[in-house]
Amino acid sequence: MASFKDIHFTPAEFAAIAKLDKSMVPELEASGQLTVTRKKVGNVDRKMISLEDMQAYFHRLRDLADGEGAVSDGPQIPIEAVSDIESVATATGFTPVTPQHRVQMFYNVKGGTGKSTLTAQYVMRAAMMGYRVLAIDLDGQGHLTVNLDILDGHERPTIYDVLINDLPIEHAIMSVAPGLDLIPANLGLCNIEIPLNNKARREYRLGEAIRRIADQYDLIVADTNPAASILNGSMLVASNLVNVVCSTNPLSFHGMSLVMATIENMQREFQRDLTVRIIPNMYDNREVISQEVLGELRGQFSDFCTKTVMNRSADMNEATKRRTTVWDVNAKGVAAQDVNSLTEELVGVERDNAHFAI
Ligand SMILES: Nc1ncnc2c1ncn2[C@@H]1O[C@H](COP(=O)(O)OP(=O)(O)OP(=O)(O)O)[C@@H](O)[C@H]1O
Ligand SMILES: [Mg+2]
Repeated sequence: MASFKDIHFTPAEFAAIAKLDKSMVPELEASGQLTVTRKKVGNVDRKMISLEDMQAYFHRLRDLADGEGAVSDGPQIPIEAVSDIESVATATGFTPVTPQHRVQMFYNVKGGTGKSTLTAQYVMRAAMMGYRVLAIDLDGQGHLTVNLDILDGHERPTIYDVLINDLPIEHAIMSVAPGLDLIPANLGLCNIEIPLNNKARREYRLGEAIRRIADQYDLIVADTNPAASILNGSMLVASNLVNVVCSTNPLSFHGMSLVMATIENMQREFQRDLTVRIIPNMYDNREVISQEVLGELRGQFSDFCTKTVMNRSADMNEATKRRTTVWDVNAKGVAAQDVNSLTEELVGVERDNAHFAI
């Protein structure tokens, strides 16, 4: 079992993520734009692409899109190779965009809808695309921390130390994998509400801390606790995009009005311009109830629902159990496809009408 930082991709998996034809991989390798290594899988020596080499490829594409030509602080490519990678970008029509919403949170006051699972899968998938990602665990259960395979979270500083004990936020950040950092959580975070309540400008403290390090990341994504807590309120004040995860069952749908009202109130009170997305999760197209709830969600919150519907999938549970990405569990499965399209949608720039009027 590989942890995320050691993950390798087959040329076919790389091609699927990079949206290019598999036959282009040897070309990219020959022109030095993609590093392919040999790795023993069982008894067979196979061509594989490491996480870092995949990220390097996307850095080149993005630098090209930014008009910089060569890579500044990443791997260097010869200038003559740029035209080749440009033709790759043109041929595939795919260049990873700079995320429009840099600070995001996964949210729902209802428990068990899949917030921590989707946050973990999203941040790993975004890191695979070469984005510099910071994940923040704001739940004392520490499920995001565990999902990212960090098992010593109880020994590490958390956002509690930053907000209550004035620890500089940099000191609470740890590296999970290349391109993916984390502020972990542990049970101690469950005690934050009373001391945070007593702090001056309590709802602004988290946003101010995040702003100090925001320049170092393309994407900052928080997983929150299932409550209308002050900590979650602080994250609403700090965020540009709220991803509400709603499982497609009747009670989860029933709670949506409350969740949306909470977000709307926070937005009014703090004069924030938040974009809100609702992600339908655990959808099972064989269940009539799943279909009905999805229909009601789309009927009542049409501007907010993501195009991506996350299907209920054993691969997702398996990824949780193995504390890795669904790509590692089954790169061809429906869960990997769903995480793919969700990630592209949440970092993407298209369709931005999901606002409340303030
Ligand atoms: N699309 C899915 N298909 C199958 N299982 C899923 C899916 N999404 C989440 N799960 C599973 O549902 C369970 C609960 O998910 P998770 O812990 O992410 O929910 P949560 O909203 O973070 O819960 P809490 O409110 O307690 O923080 C996990 O076992 C997870 O693997
Ligand atoms: Mg959770």
